[in-house]
Amino acid sequence: MKILFLDQSGELGGAELCLIDITKPYQDSCLVGLFADGSFRKLLEQRQIPVQVLATQPIQVRKQSSFAQSLGSASSLVPVIAQVVQKAREYDLIYANTQKALVIGGIASFLSHRPLVYHLHDILSIDHFSRTNRRIAITLANARASLVIANSIASQAAFVAAGGRAEITEVVYNGFEPELYQSHQANLSQLKKPFGLDGRFVVGHFSRLSPWKGQHILLEALAQCPKDVTAIFVGDALFGEQDYVQQLHEQVANLGLEERVRFLGFRSDIVELMAACDLVAHTSTAAEPFGRVIVEAMLCGRPVVATEAGGVVELVEHGHTGWLVPPGDSQKLAEAITSCRNQPEYTATVSHQAQLQASQRFNLTTTNQQIAQLLNRIVGSEQ
Ligand code: UDP
Ligand code: GLC
Repeated sequence: MKILFLDQSGELGGAELCLIDITKPYQDSCLVGLFADGSFRKLLEQRQIPVQVLATQPIQVRKQSSFAQSLGSASSLVPVIAQVVQKAREYDLIYANTQKALVIGGIASFLSHRPLVYHLHDILSIDHFSRTNRRIAITLANARASLVIANSIASQAAFVAAGGRAEITEVVYNGFEPELYQSHQANLSQLKKPFGLDGRFVVGHFSRLSPWKGQHILLEALAQCPKDVTAIFVGDALFGEQDYVQQLHEQVANLGLEERVRFLGFRSDIVELMAACDLVAHTSTAAEPFGRVIVEAMLCGRPVVATEAGGVVELVEHGHTGWLVPPGDSQKLAEAITSCRNQPEYTATVSHQAQLQASQRFNLTTTNQQIAQLLNRIVGSEQ
């Protein structure tokens, strides 16, 4: 099957990392069309996945755009749509991986008479999207998509609650290759040395720096934990949230946490870094659609404390495969971290259970089989 994948981002967010895995079986017969250049394009090239940047101008519509702003930027879409229509004629199916890709892919699918699949990585709620953008996404998906693949039941439910047609949705979780996450047997204190944190309890936070990812909540919690509890923050502000980065550094200074916190920026050696952590914290203050980092930490055999909202409750069973705390509650987070630090044996049992369960529930082979079956159904019914 020949697939034209579309994604708006040049950066490596979770949706893009997920797409790399999905494109793999179609390596010889697909094209990934991007609307921005950046590290995503480079990684696709390294993995030998055909890729082309289709837009030379950045597309201006933002998640919180108003109707007037959306309308104003519509004209900037015309050249990209024209390119996508031309490309689409060489493929059997258009696979939109992001919201702007849905807009462009939706119009292009109409003009090129190709079926459209939308991979929904977002919770289409007021916390994440303006009313206008939700309406555009729902209207286009309802009118044009043969299938909406939701990354969790929570994302599916939000789509339906916003007016999306339930009958075109299917839930497919992100898949992973468990063998890539097997922790190295190296001595934990050796792994911590580069950060100057050996001998201390290290909490890892792996996420782009963005207010809704809640790094500030972990800093607040850290100030309430015993003094040997430290944190590494892995990730960068991918979508221009520099003010928040500044705010985090000020918060570290105000709380006197300079000796207990390290910011490592964006890194590609996630597995090695997770192996150096005693615990991984996920602190999103708004509902997380899925949360790849949670599964990655489980596969690395690291205990996870995560916030109880969105798709996360489908990943973590409280007290059995990790711990859940209310979003935005730094006190509960501090209590959960401290209790893991104080009960290493119980914590290890839970993280071992989580590792076993995650390698079965979130396996890339199964995910790619599910997607192949769904896509075959669509392309088969078109012919
Ligand atoms: N990640 C990474 N380097 C970093 C920080 C994060 O490669 O410095 C990866 C992380 O391992 C995960 C993805 O980025 O696979 C983030 O996905 P997630 O679903 O957790 O959140 P998103 O940012 O997509 O909302
Ligand atoms: C999006 C979501 C994240 C999810 C990822 C992969 O980036 O924010 O929760 O894990 O897509 O589906």
